Amino acid sequence: MAGSIAEFHPGLRFATPDAIAQAAALLARGRLVAFPTETVYGLGADATDESAVVGIFAAKGRPRFNPLIALVGGLDEASAHGAFDGTARALAEAFWPGPLTLVVPARPGCRIALMARAGLDSVALRAPAHPVARALIAQAGRPLAAPSANRSGRISPTRAAAAAEELGSAVDMILDGGACEVGVESTIVACVGGAPALLRSGGVPRAAIEAVIGRALAKAEGDSDAPLAPGRLASHYAPRARVRLGARSLLPGEAGLDFGGAFGGAPRTLDLSPGRDLREAAANLFAHLRALDALAPAAIAVAPIPGEGLGEAIVDRLARAAAER
Ligand code: TXA
Ligand code: MG
Repeated sequence: MAGSIAEFHPGLRFATPDAIAQAAALLARGRLVAFPTETVYGLGADATDESAVVGIFAAKGRPRFNPLIALVGGLDEASAHGAFDGTARALAEAFWPGPLTLVVPARPGCRIALMARAGLDSVALRAPAHPVARALIAQAGRPLAAPSANRSGRISPTRAAAAAEELGSAVDMILDGGACEVGVESTIVACVGGAPALLRSGGVPRAAIEAVIGRALAKAEGDSDAPLAPGRLASHYAPRARVRLGARSLLPGEAGLDFGGAFGGAPRTLDLSPGRDLREAAANLFAHLRALDALAPAAIAVAPIPGEGLGEAIVDRLARAAAER
């Protein structure tokens, strides 16, 4: 392959302590830094700085009505910005640091920028587990607004090079912390009074959350006492190629996203998990979609994937990737 990745993006750096310190300094000056979390790479800015947050919307081409998640060190810090009821507290204690985002009412003293909250009276907070993300939050000394580091509507990056490809010169620095372990975004649960509601399936399976709260999660849609996540747009996570779900074999010109060897090793296929392990499949999902898309196929055919456990998030992302644009 011609050229190194470093030539591809001048701000790309391995996430050494030195690079993390530089990134924290950039963030404190209102600049944008992409960095790894255990779910996907995030595009970070100082969450308390309105104009820095505006920069995120511009870099992503993101509609301003779609609010951002603020990443924090833990529950103490989160409690300065949001009001955690008993359920929200129990969930934070069970799953933080980790791939769970909690939407809670904003507290009167909330310092998360109104731009980041899209003017809502709630706020989305998460304490990530990735050591690079944690070090960056600690050194920046402030919450970081961090949507996925992709152009709005496109495939989320799970590698530094993918973030570089998505954002180009719109981002000042990209910390390379290797591949993301979880591979799909955080699960989002709203605890804003009324029944706790699942706004987005993700890295923490629904059943694990329901075991902690002792009841079924309400649905975001069609449930009058549960709010909608404004970001749940039908078409999202979209490759350039069309996506065909539930495929048993490949049609001419198609590339294949396999699961458990359904396509029998046909050419131009990648298997999310030959052994049908949903964790492995989630970790491979976005990188495999991106690699198949790069072949410019007539379409990407996707083998059937079970929807339980982590499969719920995988099936959700693929349905949005396949949605009418
Ligand atoms: O795993 C993740 O959560 C990644 C990593 C980088 O942290 N971030 C991420 O951010 O997935 P993003 O912007 O791609 O998705 C944030 C979602 C959107 O669907 C948005 O609508 C929803 O969170 N959200 C944010 N604040 C909200 C609020 N106050 N009420 C309802 N939904 C909210
Ligand atoms: Mg996203």
